[in-house]
Amino acid sequence: MNHLKNIGLLLVTIFLISCEEQKDIFYTTITAPSNNIVIDFSMLKDGSPYYLVKHKNTKVIDTSTFGFTVKDQIPLQKGFKILTSSSKNYNETWEMPWGEQRTVKNHYNETIVHLQEEKAPNRLLTLYFRAYDDGVAFRYEFPEQEGLDDVIILDENTQFNLTADHKTWWIPGDWDIYEHLYTESNFTEIDALSKRGHKALAQTYIPENAVNTPVTMRTAEGLHLSFHEANLTDYSGMTLKIDKENLMMTSELVGSDRSKYKVKQKAPFKTPWRTIQISEDAVGLITSNLIVNLNEPNKLGDVDWFTPMKYVGIWWEMHLGKSSWDVKSGKHGATTENTKKYIDFAAKNNIGGVLVEGWNTGWEHWIGFEDREGVFDFVTPYPDYNLQEVTQYAKDKGVQIIMHHETSSAPRTYDKQMDTAYALMNKLDIRSVKTGYVGKIIPKGEYHHGQWMVNHYRRALETAAKHKVAINAHEPIKATGVRRTYPNAISREGLRGQEFNAWSPDGGNPPDHLPTVAFTRMLAGPIDFTPGAFNIKLKPYKAENQVNTTLAHQLGLYVVIYSPIQMACDLPEHYEDQPAFQFIRDVGVDWKQTKVLNGEIGDFVTIAREERDTKNWFIGSITDENQREITIHFDFLEKDTAYEAIIYKDGKNAHWNDNPTAIDIETKVVNKASKETFTLAPGGGLAISVKPKK
Ligand code: NOJ
Ligand code: CA
Repeated sequence: MNHLKNIGLLLVTIFLISCEEQKDIFYTTITAPSNNIVIDFSMLKDGSPYYLVKHKNTKVIDTSTFGFTVKDQIPLQKGFKILTSSSKNYNETWEMPWGEQRTVKNHYNETIVHLQEEKAPNRLLTLYFRAYDDGVAFRYEFPEQEGLDDVIILDENTQFNLTADHKTWWIPGDWDIYEHLYTESNFTEIDALSKRGHKALAQTYIPENAVNTPVTMRTAEGLHLSFHEANLTDYSGMTLKIDKENLMMTSELVGSDRSKYKVKQKAPFKTPWRTIQISEDAVGLITSNLIVNLNEPNKLGDVDWFTPMKYVGIWWEMHLGKSSWDVKSGKHGATTENTKKYIDFAAKNNIGGVLVEGWNTGWEHWIGFEDREGVFDFVTPYPDYNLQEVTQYAKDKGVQIIMHHETSSAPRTYDKQMDTAYALMNKLDIRSVKTGYVGKIIPKGEYHHGQWMVNHYRRALETAAKHKVAINAHEPIKATGVRRTYPNAISREGLRGQEFNAWSPDGGNPPDHLPTVAFTRMLAGPIDFTPGAFNIKLKPYKAENQVNTTLAHQLGLYVVIYSPIQMACDLPEHYEDQPAFQFIRDVGVDWKQTKVLNGEIGDFVTIAREERDTKNWFIGSITDENQREITIHFDFLEKDTAYEAIIYKDGKNAHWNDNPTAIDIETKVVNKASKETFTLAPGGGLAISVKPKK
């Protein structure tokens, strides 16, 4: 890996203001390399540390304090003095083993402030601040100290004090699931409690008016802010509690009814980073690398045993009700014969993988059962599935089997078996697994996003890495850039995926779902959305349901939504004789560079990505329920090169509901000077493959 390190030590800017009438008794500023963003760090008179953030001299976060409520101790909040502080400038370029781009620039200024309580118990607390050109981040450290070995956090009280009632795109602060639709509203209209009790969620717990992260906002002046966290390790997931009156968000960690605390740790330890991405336009949020940059470098070394790929799977047919996971249903999907059919299809169509769900024993005791402990077995196939035979068959055809482990949210059962299960995969040369955590966590009282589960998800990654196995987790903990450290964290769900279109009683995902996801959930990391529905009306399987986009929108998603594994979700028979399927055959999954050409949150977005090692470009564009014109300048292409562009665009009168499959396919020669305008239908999209002409 090519590391360019340039670490310089800067003198910290410290001003001691002794003036009695001033409320600040100390401050330092942390300035982004390009000077556009500044964090001010100060202390209130009572010794409460606080920060505020400015963008081009305008406050974007006002006075916001830090602190914790800890068990059996007075709150860690005020009465601090500054012991020392230090600053540095850091500038490196690192390489993504797979990703949206090959190299990432990581350039920031950092200040570390060491605090101590002036009075007994004189506890120590350290704050880290980083200012980047694309946002700010800070984290706490509990240093090693006498009398504070076990730290039991009852609440983290980090404030994010907004300067106005911003337009906000949010999902509720659910402790168990992120599979909610985004709502666009003013900050003061956030009402997470109204999202309780969704019928399609096997687990959901929304204790108060809080939102999950990433939560994205736009100010009246057009500045974009997105709040999230980076490097969530051995800690609880953070939701943000909404205080409408004071335009304030406060960290609200996911708890546990079993342990009655939010986090238990041993000093010394660091919390995850609290992050604010800041951009003058919406597209700058997507190109920001803040979240991955705040994570530690790759700990796994070379992961070239994992190859980014497209995949098909024995999956959509279950969600359509055509087949079942359960062998006793009489319509078992994961049979040797059916799997071979998918393998043949993949081999014929430049698709690298086949996911097989329902191959192992336990499914007869899945949804609706409370006693799920010890039920699923991750090494024993059902009798009609010959694991060795299909794996060999796939290998002979140059296709990889993707393993599936549905834990049914019995993580202790999975913990016991994971090492053996991954060892079996390693033996069979199966390099990736889709895991699932449907249902309420056993033991009762734990939540998917609490520390106990955060540690479980991490243990799975670490154990899998030992066996050269990569994980795509469903019902996961949110992405926080940990893929940089553990590049076997290839993808995850953590949003309302395509499957909701097959069975959700609320009519599925509306056309503006993905144009919103691109600026919210996708800022966290790769998404296993599973695009590629061609049979949009789901006939004859689901008369009541449908996909609420055009076919061209489904194609556009292969470029818009980033994941190193990208499913072609529909049944093979729905791709037969479909000229538009050529785009899925052709489209890349691993990128040298990404250009976000245009976009507005919840409205539309257009992304161009260059495939690694081929010089091929792919462009995807999607719109919400509104028809719109999109102009694409091909100025990202190499000069003096002619390219063949195959354009897949909404046909005349295409419409997500009335005429979703109308698609026009056209071939053109383009070059760096080309400029083309396209009409996207309501709920429509566009996909273009652009290859240098031979
Ligand atoms: C939920 C996942 O999101 C879905 O993709 C999968 O088919 C089921 N769990 C079964 O594991
Ligand atoms: Ca799911």
